[in-house]
Amino acid sequence: MVTDSDTATGTDTAKDTATGTGRPATTRGAIDLLDISQAFLSHGEPLPVLDHVSLSARPGSFVSLVGPSGSGKSTLLRLAAGLDKPLTGRIYVDGRRVTGPDPSRGLVFQDPTLLPWLTVEQNIGLGPRVQGHRDDPVWRDRVDAMIEMVGLEEFRQTLPAELSGGMAQRASLARALVTRPEILLLDEPLGKLDALTRSTLQVEIDRLWRRQGFTALMVTHDVEEALLLSDRIVVFSARPARVLEDVPIDLPRPRTLDDPEFRRLRRRILDLLS
Ligand SMILES: Nc1ncnc2c1ncn2[C@@H]1O[C@H](COP(=O)(O)OP(=O)(O)O)[C@@H](O)[C@H]1O
Ligand SMILES: [Mg+2]
Repeated sequence: MVTDSDTATGTDTAKDTATGTGRPATTRGAIDLLDISQAFLSHGEPLPVLDHVSLSARPGSFVSLVGPSGSGKSTLLRLAAGLDKPLTGRIYVDGRRVTGPDPSRGLVFQDPTLLPWLTVEQNIGLGPRVQGHRDDPVWRDRVDAMIEMVGLEEFRQTLPAELSGGMAQRASLARALVTRPEILLLDEPLGKLDALTRSTLQVEIDRLWRRQGFTALMVTHDVEEALLLSDRIVVFSARPARVLEDVPIDLPRPRTLDDPEFRRLRRRILDLLS
């Protein structure tokens, strides 16, 4: 963990890359959120939202964040993205202070944020195009590979309005991942999907995480989803959020809901939330 005098998390964690999941070793994508407090003005009164929250994720790990609705989970994710500034505290990625949004951090929200006038292919290629790689064959191949990876080959010329919710979220994942970010921030990415699509996409997120080796920081209200995917589950209190508990999930993968240890952990996290 980073302290005031030492901001070298990246080099610190680089020595320790064993994930035990058969995934490629990852040395980048450490994130440290240190002593973060946040407050907003609500009807002229300060509304404390985050209360000295500290949370770190090792390179290539999958950390989920669960907590009561309105506790401050999205607020923390926005801070991690660099979209807002905290009232107190510091945020580091690989030991570098976060001062604003950066392509090294990809974002996926609950509602797909595809541009309605662009096709699936154009939406997924948007990041590379903005970065000036429009006609670069290497980037065209990467966009193609990403479209294939999320199973949208048949829909590359389709507009977002014609996609199902699940397909739109696949496209959003592909768009966030095509520039190969070191960290993927997911804010209830599957929260609006039906149960069947949600479980298909959970497998999909797991597969993408294994293949691409990014660090995932995911907010979810679905404890089973968090247990299926995560190395750790951080449980928030009600607003203003504090970390109630940071629960390591050492279950073997792939995980099954009927494993007694899975059920025990599920019970424990639900107890913390109630
Ligand atoms: N920009 C903002 N201005 C004022 N209040 C906000 C703002 N963003 C969030 N809040 C408030 O902060 C609290 C936490 O919000 P949020 O982080 O979205 O919760 P969660 O994602 O855990 O459901 C809520 O009470 C919300 O109304
Ligand atoms: Mg939220």
